[in-house]
Amino acid sequence: MKRENFGTRVGILAAAAGSAIGLGNIWKFPYITGKNGGAAFILVYLACILLIGIPVMLSEFAVGRKNQVNAVESFKKISPKGKWHWSGYLAVSTAFIILSFYSIIAGWVFSYILRSATGSLKNIPADGFGEYFTNLTINPLEPALMTLLVLVITAIILFFGIKTGIEKFSKIVMPLLVLIIILLIFRSVTLPGAKAGLEFLFKPDFSQLSIHGVLEALGHSFYTLSLGMGIIITFGSYINKKENLVTLSYQVAIADTIIALMAGIVIFPAVFAYGLEPTAGPGLIFITLPAVFKAMPFGQFFEFMFFVLISIAALTSTVSLMETVVTFISEQFSLGRKKTISMVTLALFILAIPSILSFGPLSDIKILKGMNIFDSLDFITGQVFLPIGGILICVFVAWVWGVKNATKEISSEGLYKFKLKGLYSASVKYISPLAILIIFLYGLGVFNIFK
Ligand code: PHE
Repeated sequence: MKRENFGTRVGILAAAAGSAIGLGNIWKFPYITGKNGGAAFILVYLACILLIGIPVMLSEFAVGRKNQVNAVESFKKISPKGKWHWSGYLAVSTAFIILSFYSIIAGWVFSYILRSATGSLKNIPADGFGEYFTNLTINPLEPALMTLLVLVITAIILFFGIKTGIEKFSKIVMPLLVLIIILLIFRSVTLPGAKAGLEFLFKPDFSQLSIHGVLEALGHSFYTLSLGMGIIITFGSYINKKENLVTLSYQVAIADTIIALMAGIVIFPAVFAYGLEPTAGPGLIFITLPAVFKAMPFGQFFEFMFFVLISIAALTSTVSLMETVVTFISEQFSLGRKKTISMVTLALFILAIPSILSFGPLSDIKILKGMNIFDSLDFITGQVFLPIGGILICVFVAWVWGVKNATKEISSEGLYKFKLKGLYSASVKYISPLAILIIFLYGLGVFNIFK
């Protein structure tokens, strides 16, 4: 059977940027920027994107496009004798596990969209959203239904294939995401007292920038570009040989960074205008922001748009995660695509159930370091599997496949000039694996002395 490819350049960009732009851009980046010295942190972050993010992304695109097969087979085809395909298995498993809990968070977002649309959030007192959110998560029925809804929507998009499914969907919703974010920026910066928020976000304060901040920038640059879990390898395998991978990687990284900054411009002026505390994670979008919207003129409308924005960001990410798993299973076991999608969706839902229950009935079950099931899965994938996957891809490209061969693929056999080849080579050989190793050890708590 002939394998499908992406149809247009804009489509590839929308899909890859869609994967990169996710909850990390909206609920994490703005906060860690503010906390670590604003513009000072942004500079470090940009350096990480340039020196590590883009080279690793290029490597993944190249590994995938070389043989146009799934993430496991891509390693095997390049190195038939070695055991490198195990890093493919690791990547696909990481994508599978991350999707099982990422879809729960996306499910909460869907709950808030409905509640915002029906106006039921309006009746909650400004200081009551903490309790409101806890009530939503401890009672498993609604989260389970919403998680299923997220998985089914993702599956439907995948049913239509690469070109008419993922590509078309991304081409429609990504511009919508940009429009909504622009609309929200206008609302936020025109609030009285918005300036303090912009200062929190952008004023360079080098005294706030610690080693911890630098490592946070590093780790985030990796996560936000969806690296280390086979997604970019899989997308690469659907890209035409004549596509310029270098330009594509720059564009994805630029789009991702711009949206992250825009998210900060939406969130902090509003949070500061109403005298609330900035936070990161679920607390920000499910507890702090509803209180902000409540106080704002036309708040319900902006709240609804905000949750639609997050749902788009989340869905384009779930699509990329599920595609990675589906491409692998359907090719490896010669199963039909639709059958695979149905099976994977069911399996994901089953795996999600213990995580959903870990906020309520199973909250006493602790797996790692006193963490519940949901947090343990998040920790093991984000802090362990992702960095290991990242190091493996660098070592594989630099020392097994060879930078020379990788560069051939990246430059489309010399069709395009690859000006920063030297820097790329230094990055995949030394800078990236070492830097990722350091964040890995740091994430495990090995350097707690620096805190
Ligand atoms: N890159 C996404 C973000 O910034 C996160 C993500 C991780 C997406 C894993 C897909 C897979 O939120």
